[in-house]
Amino acid sequence: MSAVPADFDAATLPPGSPEHKRLLARFFFDTHVEYDPEHIAWPTLSTEEHRRLTGLPFWQEAVSTENVTSNTVTAAAALESDPELSRAIALQGFEEQRHARLLAALTAHYGIPIEFPRPYTPHKLEDDFLFAGFGECFDSFFAFGLFALARESGYFPAALVTVFEPVMEEEVRHILFFVNWVKVRRLQLPWWKRPAFRARCAWIILKQVASRAQTARTLGGGDAPAATRENFTLTAHQDIGAPVTLHGLLGKCLQENDRRMAHYDARLLRPRLVPAIARALYRVLPKRL
Ligand SMILES: [Fe+2]
Ligand SMILES: [Fe+2]
Repeated sequence: MSAVPADFDAATLPPGSPEHKRLLARFFFDTHVEYDPEHIAWPTLSTEEHRRLTGLPFWQEAVSTENVTSNTVTAAAALESDPELSRAIALQGFEEQRHARLLAALTAHYGIPIEFPRPYTPHKLEDDFLFAGFGECFDSFFAFGLFALARESGYFPAALVTVFEPVMEEEVRHILFFVNWVKVRRLQLPWWKRPAFRARCAWIILKQVASRAQTARTLGGGDAPAATRENFTLTAHQDIGAPVTLHGLLGKCLQENDRRMAHYDARLLRPRLVPAIARALYRVLPKRL
C-alpha cells in the first residue's frame, strides 16, 4: 500500500534506526485518506434497521472512548522530538478527532441520544498515550472481526457498513504505527532506562488485559453488565445479529487481522501480543463456547 523507496533494505532495517523511523513516518503519511464526516450521504434505513442501529448499547461508550483517545493522541505529538514522527502522531490525532466527528454525525443523523463529554485533558502524557495505544491494540483486533461479521450477517445495510471501512483501516494503521513507535521510543532511551520503560509498558498492558478478562468472564452469560461496557468490542457480537461463538469470533478476528496487516510494508513490526493471546485461546477453547 505504501510506496517504499528502493534505498530501504528489509535485511538492514534495524528498529529505531533512521531508516526505520523514515519508513514509519512515510507509511503513515502515504496511507492517509481524505474524507469528510460532515458530508457523508447516510443511507436511508428501514424501520427495523433503524431500531437495530439505535438499540446498540455502546454508542455512549464509543463517543467517550474516542474523546479520550483523540485528545490524548493529538497532545502526544509533543512527546516526539523527531519532526516527521511528531507530524505522523499529529496526523493520527486528526484521524481520531475525525472518528469522534463521524460518531457525532451518525448519532445526530439517526437520532441516537448521546451526551458529549468535555474534551479530555491528558494528565501524564506518555502514560496516557501508551494506555490509549495498547488499548487500541486490543479494541482494534476485536473490531476487525466484529466488522467482518456485521458485513457478512447483513444485519445492517451494506451502505452503512461501508461508511466505517476507512475507520477500520485507520485503526490498522494506528496500531501498526504505535507498536513501531514504542520500540523506537525504548531504543532511544539510555540502556539503563530501558528496563523501567519496558516494565511500565508491561504494567499498562496488564491493566488492559485485566479489564478485558473481566469482560470476557461475562461472555456467554447474556448481557454484559454496564460496568464492563467500556470493552464493548468484546461483547458487541451479541448485538450485531451474528450467531457466533467466542471460538468463532476469535477465529474471525485472527483471520481479519492477518488480512488487513498483510497490506502494509513487511519491514514494519506487527502487533504480536493480542494475536498471540487470541491464537492461544482459539486453540484451547471448545468450538461450542
Ligand atoms: Fe479511533
Ligand atoms: Fe485509532
